[in-house]
Amino acid sequence: MFRIEVDNINGKTELLYVHGDRSILTELEQHNVLINHSCRQGHCGSCILQLLSGDVIHQDSLMPLSQGEILACRATPVRDIKIGPRD
Ligand code: FES
Repeated sequence: MFRIEVDNINGKTELLYVHGDRSILTELEQHNVLINHSCRQGHCGSCILQLLSGDVIHQDSLMPLSQGEILACRATPVRDIKIGPRD
């Protein structure tokens, strides 16, 4: 079980506890933390968040990402993480 610390994403700051078997986007939705998204396949970039600490695994994606950016639809936590809105 991993902890996702949500740091001021659309006004929400809270702790989620997840198994790490679903995307961060899906986990956020399950906990009513709503973020922008569209394709859910790593193409549009609308779900980009900032990884503030911890590690994630990214499935394949075509989007170029800056340092610390993750695609919520393609990323799964591999340990406790802290995420916030894109800089
Ligand atoms: S929803 Fe399109 S890249 Fe994540």
